[in-house]
Amino acid sequence: MTLANIKLDVEYVRSQFPAFKDPLSKDWSFFENAGGSYVPINVINKLSEFMISTKVQPYAEYTMSKVAGNNMDKATRIFADIINAKENEIIIGGSTSINLYVLSNALKKNLSPGDEIIVTNQDHEANISPWRRLSEIGAKIIEWQFNLDDHELKISDLENLISSKTKIIAVTHCSNIVGSVNNLKKISEIAHKNNIIVIGDGVSYAPHGFPDVKDLDVDFYTFSLYKTYGPHLALLYGKEEILKELPNQNHEFLQGKYPYTINPGGPNHEELVSLIGINEYFDNLYNHHFQDKENITINKIKKINNLISKHEEIIANPILDYISKREDFKLIGKDKIQNKNRAPTIAFISNKITSKKLSEILVQNKIATRNDNFYAWRCLEHLGIDTNDGVVRLSMTHYNNINDTDRVIEALKIV
Ligand SMILES: Cc1ncc(COP(=O)(O)O)c(C=O)c1O
Repeated sequence: MTLANIKLDVEYVRSQFPAFKDPLSKDWSFFENAGGSYVPINVINKLSEFMISTKVQPYAEYTMSKVAGNNMDKATRIFADIINAKENEIIIGGSTSINLYVLSNALKKNLSPGDEIIVTNQDHEANISPWRRLSEIGAKIIEWQFNLDDHELKISDLENLISSKTKIIAVTHCSNIVGSVNNLKKISEIAHKNNIIVIGDGVSYAPHGFPDVKDLDVDFYTFSLYKTYGPHLALLYGKEEILKELPNQNHEFLQGKYPYTINPGGPNHEELVSLIGINEYFDNLYNHHFQDKENITINKIKKINNLISKHEEIIANPILDYISKREDFKLIGKDKIQNKNRAPTIAFISNKITSKKLSEILVQNKIATRNDNFYAWRCLEHLGIDTNDGVVRLSMTHYNNINDTDRVIEALKIV
């Protein structure tokens, strides 16, 4: 069987996630994945193993402590390999919002009054507010607005906004409302020609395939691990040559000990160790679908990403097609996923009923979704959508199946 013919075995995938058998959740079609994903059994096992056997202060010489410390280091190393980074370029923090806040605080030391920062109005507020706040030290904030015809951020618009004073571009890899995948590689290329630092928000991208940060060539990249099948943590990647120059925000004695200098304090130990379970799950997924052995993590990830993308196209395109053809619905973003140009994160509104009412009908039909602005209120404001009522968002990931697709379309037919 050639690589192109291998299909994701979604029933195998679902068998790895206890939520699909749990009495409380088993009857629901889960469409809130962009809010936070279910976790595979491997993550739960790693978490409880840590709590049972190694819930002690790590890095001493006694066995339980040694194992705890080794597993914490292992989890960090694994995630460095997964995204093609070095171990000392990985920071694990409590959330993406926290990670970006501490990063902006560290980078502000490099800015002078009048320096310019480009932010978008397509991003989640987590990658806007911390940068906008730097106007307090005299930074000038420039907004890169998305196009109202197709809801896309245009690279040509960015080029017109860049000046000799631009120091930072903060941009989402994939908006949690529009769903389009932005060309972060191209953005980095343009930025670096102008000595500008690029901060990529990968929160809505990473659940659909972990990125290769070296290929993207971004300077900083962050995503929330609780949306990539893990516990409530978030990863921040930073290029070593930049990280090591940033001021120490941790204890004084840690001066020079990057990457521990960025976040005050350390990560949650048990949750950090449970990240090993995400990799075990991806290994199982790989071994279930592919015969040849793959020792290089990023190659394994790329092959799995491919499987996931093809499956996501199959389950999301019928919904995109249905919503885009309904005259009373307005779909945000592209109406088809092709070659990973879009995530299966589908936001829409009705011109007949409120998003609140629409989501209530879906929930009555056991479709787990909600109406909200999803903290991307500048995006909704630009689209002229009431930020209180918001959009309804149907966000899928690779463990959703075609039954979920059929169920949501059937439910939408009665609206
Ligand atoms: C695109 C995007 N960026 C950033 C965030 C913030 O992530 P966190 O909840 O980890 O702070 C979210 C959360 O939903 C998001 O969707």
